[in-house]
Amino acid sequence: MRVVKTINALREEITAVKRKQQSIGFVPTMGYLHEGHMSLIEEARRQHDIVVLSIFVNPLQFGPNEDLERYPRDFVRDENIAKELGVDLLFYPDTKEMYPADPSMTIHVTEGVNVLCGKSRPGHFDGVTTVVMKLFMLVQPDQAYFGQKDAQQVAIITNMVDMFNIPVEVIPCPTVREEDGLAKSSRNVYLTDEERQEAPLIYQVLTQARSLIKEGELSPNEIVQFVKKELNSLQHAEMDYVELLTYPKLMPVTEKDKTILLAVAYTFKHARLIDNIIVSKGE
Ligand code: PAJ
Repeated sequence: MRVVKTINALREEITAVKRKQQSIGFVPTMGYLHEGHMSLIEEARRQHDIVVLSIFVNPLQFGPNEDLERYPRDFVRDENIAKELGVDLLFYPDTKEMYPADPSMTIHVTEGVNVLCGKSRPGHFDGVTTVVMKLFMLVQPDQAYFGQKDAQQVAIITNMVDMFNIPVEVIPCPTVREEDGLAKSSRNVYLTDEERQEAPLIYQVLTQARSLIKEGELSPNEIVQFVKKELNSLQHAEMDYVELLTYPKLMPVTEKDKTILLAVAYTFKHARLIDNIIVSKGE
């Protein structure tokens, strides 16, 4: 595995790969790798000649009061995991390499951002799309792998690829969970023991709601109320949002919509956790 920290070195590697007409699968991350990230790398490994992994904690996608400074980092551990999983190229730039000066332009997302995390994290998806666009330009992958756990991120990046005709295929991958159902997240390490104990309730309630949605007897509003009521028993977390939307358009749900996203965010003392399910009615 080659580790490259500069854009010039990355370009040289990518040029060599392209000359050999090898296919590239790309997994962008912010590091502190867990099984969720690992599942994306494994899928890329199965599908491509060359697997490129990026690790970059992107300041542009963090709001002023968010956890940029505290975001967990462990490069040596990440490097070993990447090696073991057969990553060919690990791109690990520092902030100066990615943003030598204050960005003079960014992507501004106008659709699908007034809901879910976009609503509570203004500017977040401008930061995500800007860095992913830069990474796509640098790595020039055939396919890029994203976790369905960040459903809004997948939807918005898919829109970006369509909008700018970027020759990259976005591959959504299923959410990897702990045995008790809690979605794996780099931020789970911030949970206290008590918080960690009650956090699995989030997915349990989503699973109950899945059955209710499939049964089709409750209105979208009633489903949302059900989830809020059940998750009200979280002692250590406050609701950020519970929303039911069409997927991937992220619009209000009507009777005839078949693919529905139920997404929630709850804020614990030091960690804001998100989770979601996508339900196909009539299956
Ligand atoms: P990060 O949070 O490190 O996540 C990197 C990728 O791993 C994302 O596609 C995310 O959806 C996926 N992922 C995280 N937890 C997962 C889980 N439990 N199961 C499956 N996949 C999971 O998302 C980002 O970084 C950044 O926004 C990034 C796209 C790298 C841009 O900076």
